[in-house]
Amino acid sequence: MSQTTTTQTAPPSSSSSPPSAIAILSQPITLPCGLTLPNRLVKCPMQETQAKGPYFNPPIDTFTNLYSLWARSSYGLLITGQVQIDRRFLSIAGDVCCHEGSLEPETLGLWKEWARIAQKDGTPCIVQLAHPGRMSPAGAGIRPKEMRALCPSEVPVQLGDTWLDKLALDKVLGTPKAMTVEDIDEVVGMFVRGAVVARDAGFAGAQLHGAHGFLLSQFLSLHTNRRTDDYGGTPEKRMKLLQRLIYEIRALCPPPYCLSVKLNSADYMDAGRGLEIEEGLEQVRWLRECGMIDFVEISGGNAEQKHSGLHNSFGAKTVASGQKMKESTRIREAFYTDFADRVMQMKSDVPVQLSGGFRTRTGMADAVHSLTCDLIGLGRSAVLEPEIPRAVLLNPEFDDEGALAKSHVVRGQWFSKMIPVKVIGGGLPIQFFYYNMRRLGKGLKSDPDISIPSMIAVSLWESVSSGLLQTLQRLVAAFSGGQRVKIE
Ligand SMILES: Cc1cc2nc3c(=O)[nH]c(=O)nc-3n(C[C@H](O)[C@H](O)[C@H](O)COP(=O)(O)O)c2cc1C
Repeated sequence: MSQTTTTQTAPPSSSSSPPSAIAILSQPITLPCGLTLPNRLVKCPMQETQAKGPYFNPPIDTFTNLYSLWARSSYGLLITGQVQIDRRFLSIAGDVCCHEGSLEPETLGLWKEWARIAQKDGTPCIVQLAHPGRMSPAGAGIRPKEMRALCPSEVPVQLGDTWLDKLALDKVLGTPKAMTVEDIDEVVGMFVRGAVVARDAGFAGAQLHGAHGFLLSQFLSLHTNRRTDDYGGTPEKRMKLLQRLIYEIRALCPPPYCLSVKLNSADYMDAGRGLEIEEGLEQVRWLRECGMIDFVEISGGNAEQKHSGLHNSFGAKTVASGQKMKESTRIREAFYTDFADRVMQMKSDVPVQLSGGFRTRTGMADAVHSLTCDLIGLGRSAVLEPEIPRAVLLNPEFDDEGALAKSHVVRGQWFSKMIPVKVIGGGLPIQFFYYNMRRLGKGLKSDPDISIPSMIAVSLWESVSSGLLQTLQRLVAAFSGGQRVKIE
């Protein structure tokens, strides 16, 4: 635990009375770069799916609502949704992208506005930078049809066993191209550019997305990295791309710029496939010892994993009632606590954020107090109850038993199970959260009760009606001498 770097504001604890859960979560923490986070609650990176092609610049029209909401909700840190570094390779339509023109004054102006909105109430915000690698569906970015997605080695995604699954995967993701050293150099340049854009826009720093089966984690995992050159073949060489990025970004973005990495604890695939826990631990050890990283976020899983808890329902059992903090009782509601415990046994001052499964104030406070982690990541609850830190978790009007994220189940999951193609059906529950983030972007509240079929119907209607609107605008423009007329 990075106790040496923390500044305690909580009332001093006496041996007879442990600090309250609110006091524990309200402790500021100063990162190695000098950035002080006002408390321990972090809004996790979640891709917002609101940017529009062909440039996928930050969509200020909707981000004004979305990020103002998070900005005023008393998180200790905001991490943006993943920002892609190459317009050809998006992970989903609507990802924000940092591209060759992002440092031009007009586009940089949009980035500056995003940084301003997100940080206007004093909470720092960092930009998550990502490349989807082989997880880049055809049609999501501007890549030409004949261009394949990239991967350290030619390893296609496997999801589902039927011929229909295989056909759909082949059409949507295809077999990726094993990256050449020139491809790797180009990707490095693009990540570095992303970090510089975040710096020049006024964000507090950047996070490299090395988790969930995207490109950097494809390099880190034995399953997708079967190279025999400098970038693969041994655990050390599998880390080379990530290490290169850290060195090159730090050369241009020294402290007080905050640099973080999000890593998988493991891929949780069958034994012998994927990243194993011991190798994951060694990766975290290097990051915590290299002297260039300000905090490590720990998560887990990837799209090929059989059972992922990440995108479905909120564990109703864990949040059915809050639990009282007892000195002797560990409240283990988060997903990757065993791994985090082992990480925290390392001697290091680099703080650790644990993300996945946190729902109750007492569960979060227990994780910090018992040195399982320093920072608590909040993902789905930051979509369904975006103001949850200020409104509930840090609000003394709620006692510990009542201070928890509302339990809910994504309704209509029978619909996704009916779809015979896993790559489509399996992706529907996460669409529920994208849908709700888009509602927040429009200034509406999240709708936790909408079912998957209704959500699809609403989204279809929205795209049809916006298509109709554009057609109408074109017609009116044609009849009014070619001038475009705005129809609200
Ligand atoms: C809608 C949605 C989008 C996500 N997008 C990202 C992302 O862009 N980058 C990332 O590292 N993790 C992403 N995640 C994972 C979250 O950051 C987080 O690790 C996960 O949701 C577990 O936390 P939770 O149990 O509090 O939801 C996403 C999760 C959801 C639900």
